[in-house]
Amino acid sequence: MVTSSAPGKVYLFGEHAVVYGEPAVPCAIERRARITAERRGDDRLRVNATDLTLDGFTVEYDGDATGTPDVDVAEPLLEEGMGYVNEAIEQARDAADAPDAGFDVTIESSIPLGAGLGSSAAVVTAAIDAATRELGVELDAAEIADRAYHVEYEVQDGQASRADTFCSAMGGAVRVESDDCRRIDDVPNLPFVIGYDGGSGDTGALVAGVRDLREEYDFAADTVGAIGDIVRQGEQALEAGDLEELGELMDFNHGLLSALGVSSRTLDAMVWAAREGDALGAKLTGAGGGGCIVALDPDDGTETALRYTQGCESVFRAELDTEGVRVES
Ligand code: PMV
Repeated sequence: MVTSSAPGKVYLFGEHAVVYGEPAVPCAIERRARITAERRGDDRLRVNATDLTLDGFTVEYDGDATGTPDVDVAEPLLEEGMGYVNEAIEQARDAADAPDAGFDVTIESSIPLGAGLGSSAAVVTAAIDAATRELGVELDAAEIADRAYHVEYEVQDGQASRADTFCSAMGGAVRVESDDCRRIDDVPNLPFVIGYDGGSGDTGALVAGVRDLREEYDFAADTVGAIGDIVRQGEQALEAGDLEELGELMDFNHGLLSALGVSSRTLDAMVWAAREGDALGAKLTGAGGGGCIVALDPDDGTETALRYTQGCESVFRAELDTEGVRVES
């Protein structure tokens, strides 16, 4: 039996635009998914989950989605969740050359599901690590990142960048531009505050919406390009440790994401509350549509403002997590 964990992330800059080859800077946060993989006597996969949103469920899985479990979660979200675990186990079987290996998999996660904090990437990354180790094979973080990306690509019908999975596997702040992925060294302390509206967005539909807009209007394509400019400017601010400028650029990035139609009333309300609470800057994180915002604030103002914001279900601080995927026991 092996337990591995991997962190979730926030996007400091660049979600959506990264899908079209612009750079993005996701940052790992100290909220982890922990996956335990234990070999079974047969070739089946049995998954057990306790999660903020999946309130505890067990499901046996043998490739098709029969035997629907009795859980209080939307069916598509559950099927998608199972798809991620199933494909991660397939990658582990492939890496260890053990096509018939069956597993009992337990998921414990403190990352809200589908809320822009990279829950699926963290689950997939940790699952590949735990299951390969259980089969006696140790992969390095770069190979886990690559295999995890292929899982996301498969499950999300080709609409995935390497950003989430690379960040979860490596930890810290990273820069991703198409296939070019690397860690950013010497990052200043980033005082992240996260507001969560309790909801989630449909990543596939949101990505498709931006794609359509971009094809229809040149100015939408320019907007995507302008997000890339913000990221490049943001990298310099990050290097210089200039939190004021980082905040300003986050505000700008949110405005452009909003123009591309991926914000929502509650995400906007939380962003505005953070700004009124004297955040250095605030933006949605991830695909949008619902879920989380991330603000930069070394003081208490943003947390207090978000606590009193209608539609904000929870507020928490999250430190940058410099460690990526790791074995726990
Ligand atoms: O909401 P998340 O954490 O799945 O992030 C999606 C980020 C996108 O840029 C919209 C898509 C991607 O795969 O990069």
